[in-house]
Amino acid sequence: MPKRRATITAVGHYVPEKILSNRDLETMVNTTDEWIRTRTGIEERRILEQGASSDMGAMALKNMLQNRGITADAIDLIIVATVTPDMFFPSTACLVQEKVHAKNAWGFDLSAACSGFLFALMTGAQFIETGAHKRVVVVGTDKMSAITDYTDRNNCILFGDAAAAVLLEPVEDDSGGILDHILRCDGAGERYLHMRGGGSLHPPTHETVDKRMHYLYQDGKAVFKVAVVGMADVSAEIVQRNSLTGKDIDWLVPHQANLRIIDATAERMGIEKSKVMININRYGNTTAATIPLCLSEWWHAGKLRKGQTLVLAAFGAGYTWGSVLLRWTAENAA
Ligand code: COA
Repeated sequence: MPKRRATITAVGHYVPEKILSNRDLETMVNTTDEWIRTRTGIEERRILEQGASSDMGAMALKNMLQNRGITADAIDLIIVATVTPDMFFPSTACLVQEKVHAKNAWGFDLSAACSGFLFALMTGAQFIETGAHKRVVVVGTDKMSAITDYTDRNNCILFGDAAAAVLLEPVEDDSGGILDHILRCDGAGERYLHMRGGGSLHPPTHETVDKRMHYLYQDGKAVFKVAVVGMADVSAEIVQRNSLTGKDIDWLVPHQANLRIIDATAERMGIEKSKVMININRYGNTTAATIPLCLSEWWHAGKLRKGQTLVLAAFGAGYTWGSVLLRWTAENAA
């Protein structure tokens, strides 16, 4: 009997309406549209004006259910990848579950920053492969504007708000699904990318607020160097160990942190730029949402099609990083 695999059968997304452009940022910090575009590839990003990560996650999940033609009571499990939960507890997954009325689902949050979607995808896939569940939803949602310091020009230009969701179901034949994964972490990266305030190490005080410890901190140059190597390494490795080459890959779906990191990964894999999903210009870095947002946009546009082979790749705080190889089995967009 073939191994029961998990496969993505539906996608959905939500982006807030408000646009924060590079020109807008020029009026807030000492930067230029030209600097941001040439160093990062970002032109604009979205900002959620009202509500929280669970609201965006619920909207994305509802969009996904509509695309699949099922109702929320068919969901067994909701995993939410986020670094901007609505609150420490209850989990954002519980709040999403309530907002979409998924009355038969349990759920939990998973924290792996920009690799959160890949970590959550592979966690969800285990429940499908073991036969424990039939329908697992993986949501990536981040309201990065809530933890971004808009006086810090090094970082405020990079991030935006968005959410996207995928549905995992079993596929019992050899037609595709999730074929392989490589996931890694290295806690030595903490000093270069973190938000130290508010947790049990530095509970909130006037001092933590004064020291701006409730905002994301990143040493961009240090992170850039390891991200380029890390994302390219695992993407090249997963292709090689499955006896494939860049020519066999229809889409590289990279985490959208910096266009130069994406270009370096594609080059290392021998993949042409036309086969790389890129929307960083419109959304910036939306952390856990970047990869499923690409999948959903490309599917809606009819460019992501049944039978195509994909490599998903991410790098983020932790450090965390990884790649996933899959063959797309969802029906094409109508
Ligand atoms: N506008 C204008 N100048 C800026 C600026 C801005 N928004 N932000 C920083 N600068 C300045 C710095 O002050 C510095 O000036 P100095 O050299 O006089 O000190 C200079 O630009 C830094 O330039 P450089 O080091 O060449 O930038 P960079 O090429 O490393 O790009 C990042 C900076 C942040 C865009 C890049 O490092 C990056 O993308 N890092 C990794 C992001 C990432 O992958 N994160 C992973 C997961 S989230």
